Amino acid sequence: MTTSRNIESAAAAFEARYGYAPTGVWSAPGRVNLIGEHTDYNLGFVLPFAINRRTYAAISLRQDQTVRVMSSFSDEQHQIELADISKNAANDWAAYPFGVAWALAKLGQTAGVGFDAYFESDVPVGSGLSSSAAIECSTSLALNELWQTNLSRPELARVGQLAENEIVGAPTGIMDQSASLLGERDHAVFLDCKSLEAQSIELGFDDEGLELLIIDTRVAHRLNDGGYATRRAACELGASQMNAASLREVSIDQLGKAKEIMDDVTFRRVRHIVTENERVLETVEKLRTEGPKSIGALLNASHVSMRDDFEISIDELDTAVDVAIRHGAVGARMTGGGFGGAAIALAPIAKVSEITLAVLAEFELLGYGKPNIFAVTADQGARRDR
Ligand code: GLA
Repeated sequence: MTTSRNIESAAAAFEARYGYAPTGVWSAPGRVNLIGEHTDYNLGFVLPFAINRRTYAAISLRQDQTVRVMSSFSDEQHQIELADISKNAANDWAAYPFGVAWALAKLGQTAGVGFDAYFESDVPVGSGLSSSAAIECSTSLALNELWQTNLSRPELARVGQLAENEIVGAPTGIMDQSASLLGERDHAVFLDCKSLEAQSIELGFDDEGLELLIIDTRVAHRLNDGGYATRRAACELGASQMNAASLREVSIDQLGKAKEIMDDVTFRRVRHIVTENERVLETVEKLRTEGPKSIGALLNASHVSMRDDFEISIDELDTAVDVAIRHGAVGARMTGGGFGGAAIALAPIAKVSEITLAVLAEFELLGYGKPNIFAVTADQGARRDR
């Protein structure tokens, strides 16, 4: 994770591919969500942070309307005219930069000009760490400067979300892009997804001798196939049955009524969202008053709620969480959209190797694929690097 090496190698690869030097290199981090899952599109609360894994984008504007993108993750060059970008214009990673160009032109009210881009990334793909948001936000920050659209960072988060919703075809919320754009070192982004007001909350993991472990199950997840969309639809149904504009408006006290009027599945989806919002608020309060060692029970409760009520966990994630807690983690939960991807475990540094070995052993025993386990820290959001 030597960033200067990534910056230089992205610039050099751009020059080797396109035959001229890029105007600049911009980077944006992946994110991990500490707590607040599937609450973003229900206009609730989330508490993610930007991680020390980034995507680097070397970019130059062109004179015409052509967009060309290449990356270290595939040999193919993808090319399109700005005016031709539409849903399913690309069915792989190129949909993200294409989508951002389309969405920024729309929200930035500009026709834009074409560009060449080269991407390099150390954010693991498909593990729920928002490798897609990292591509989107490095692209949007660069084009916002080069096209002089001058949108604010919260507006750029909306650009990324629009790209994902309209061009990639994933009905996702605004959490990932907000974390990637607004993250700060050692801080989480506490976002109210209704007002879009964001506050930086100090994490203090290091001072308390804690590490945040990612246990990537390597079971790939996708956000544009059925599971994510059906969860979203169930939440919308539940809100309408409560005559609420969104589940943000539904309180814990109203869950009794919800249980009476809803079918069991819809009720449990609703209960996850309503209780998860409460857990985010409690986590923020505890981080402010008691510090990170006090948030374990909230992380664990969040996992149980996703496993039993929202039903987005898988056996590998449940195993990772159980083993981590049994071997001394302060708390653990699956993170991200679900149906695969990663769990997080907040652990005392002295317990990290025990937890790692125990998870590896248990996965092997159960015949699961080998997980990828590593620590992350909260890092700075998107920036121009050179
Ligand atoms: C994915 C989406 C986010 C959010 C999470 C679940 O990461 O992109 O908008 O909904 O899932 O919390």
